[in-house]
Amino acid sequence: MTDSATTRTEREDFQATSDPALIESADRGDVKLLSYQQLYELWERQQWRTQDLDFSQDREDWENFPDEEKFQRMYGLSSFFIGEQKVAEELGPMMRAAPTEEMRIFLCTQIADEARHVAFFNRFYEEVGVLESSNLQDRLKETSAHLNPKFHDLFDDMLHSRVDKLARDPSDLETLVEAITLYHMVIEGMLALTGQHFIITYNEENGTLPGFVEGFNNVARDEHRHVAFGARFLREMAQADPKYAEAIQRTLVECGPAADGVLTPPWYEEGMDLFGVSIEETREFAMKALGRRLKVIGLAPVT
Ligand SMILES: [Fe+2]
Ligand SMILES: [Fe+2]
Repeated sequence: MTDSATTRTEREDFQATSDPALIESADRGDVKLLSYQQLYELWERQQWRTQDLDFSQDREDWENFPDEEKFQRMYGLSSFFIGEQKVAEELGPMMRAAPTEEMRIFLCTQIADEARHVAFFNRFYEEVGVLESSNLQDRLKETSAHLNPKFHDLFDDMLHSRVDKLARDPSDLETLVEAITLYHMVIEGMLALTGQHFIITYNEENGTLPGFVEGFNNVARDEHRHVAFGARFLREMAQADPKYAEAIQRTLVECGPAADGVLTPPWYEEGMDLFGVSIEETREFAMKALGRRLKVIGLAPVT
């Protein structure tokens, strides 16, 4: 791991989330997860504004990137931009189905965060001049051409079908466990945080896109807080009834191929580096983060 990445995840505000992936003792299954109220209070302390970010250097950098580099960067940007918009939209029925008031209050804050993440990407695209389109709706449509088809399997089939089920029956706790496994453990925990880690590090090392890096660090810190909620919720459910532990494991197996596909751009060729690292290194990072969280949830043997 590079110095900049180590420094980032060791920052006090990142550590404050108690996301097991950031804490070494998680390897022994030993992490003191925050309560739902503590997670809410942390959200109050960790506010930021997309309108404060200065993208003027980013615009210059983008104009100077060769076309091939712009094209390769569009995979990450598009997956995040559309991913944020989709998760923002799916969270409402999940919030409503959460069994306690403390959980629902936290998930309300998360809906606001996901909206801010969409606004962050929209502003970056607009200020930097990434696409021709001139509004959010059209930008999302235009940027979707860069996605991997597996992205739709994960978001539009697996996640969306469960959220639809919850919207019809908010008392269906087993489906909520499956949805939170997909949303907080896989989409945010394995995919988003892995992409963020390598994209931020790459830009920091190359001295590019400073406004984007500043905002994306804030997005990453939010995601660690969201994942910490997911870890707490899934641990409580797995302890409450083995049928929920089985639901978590079943969902992880089911979404494995789609999740792995999302880590891989459609133009990827064997041996290629993505943001300066191999696909194996990317996978390894994602799996280590999942492994630590599963140990803390109580679903993987501790070392
Ligand atoms: Fe997000
Ligand atoms: Fe999130």
